[in-house]
Amino acid sequence: MSNLPLIVMAGASGDLGGRIARALISRGVPTRALVRTNTRQAQLPTGLEVVPVDFADHDRLRAACDDATCIVSAVNGLGDVVLDLQSRLLDAAIAASVPRFIPSDYSLDFTRTAPGRNRNLDLRRAFKAKLDAAPIAATSVLNGAFADLLAGQAPIVLHGIRRILYWGEADQHYDFTTK
Ligand SMILES: NC(=O)c1ccc[n+]([C@@H]2O[C@H](COP(=O)([O-])OP(=O)(O)OC[C@H]3O[C@@H](n4cnc5c(N)ncnc54)[C@H](OP(=O)(O)O)[C@@H]3O)[C@@H](O)[C@H]2O)c1
Repeated sequence: MSNLPLIVMAGASGDLGGRIARALISRGVPTRALVRTNTRQAQLPTGLEVVPVDFADHDRLRAACDDATCIVSAVNGLGDVVLDLQSRLLDAAIAASVPRFIPSDYSLDFTRTAPGRNRNLDLRRAFKAKLDAAPIAATSVLNGAFADLLAGQAPIVLHGIRRILYWGEADQHYDFTTK
């Protein structure tokens, strides 16, 4: 039995969330995964305490946050997830007196970009305003883009034609990290 404090996660069935969960488990950190009632549990890392919840049920959600030292969110989606679902999770965390909340940002530094230019960053900025006004400590992970996007969803490295794509300045700096 580990004496380390409990982490409660949302999004542990996802790609990044699964990686975070496996990293916590490998360090012996007790980790509770809040999942939707219809989430396929086979896709969850082993070693987690899995708690299926209705994310619309405040009381169940609050009870599922009990004893946590930190909520780690790695959910993915648009306004209904980044704003609505994370707000419900935040309310539950505050009601359960959880000291810290890590939202599902994992993005470039949206505090230094102009509002209205990127929908995904605007959603994160709106949730950050809510989180900063809430009586809970917050940590935002601003890791830049994940490098696998370079040859995938943001095809900048074009292996086929042996070219690197850029807009405007070829010396434009980007932040990347590995998942
Ligand atoms: N910086 C970058 O380049 C970069 C790249 C990729 C991702 N990201 C970020 O990393 C984070 C995680 O992304 P990902 O790719 O790991 O996502 P993913 O694989 O699609 O996983 C999404 C997770 O969110 C959960 N989820 C979605 N809608 C939900 C809802 N309505 N209620 C409850 N749970 C819900 C899913 O649960 P189910 O299993 O129940 O569906 C799943 O666990 C996001 O913030 C994303 O923007 C950043």
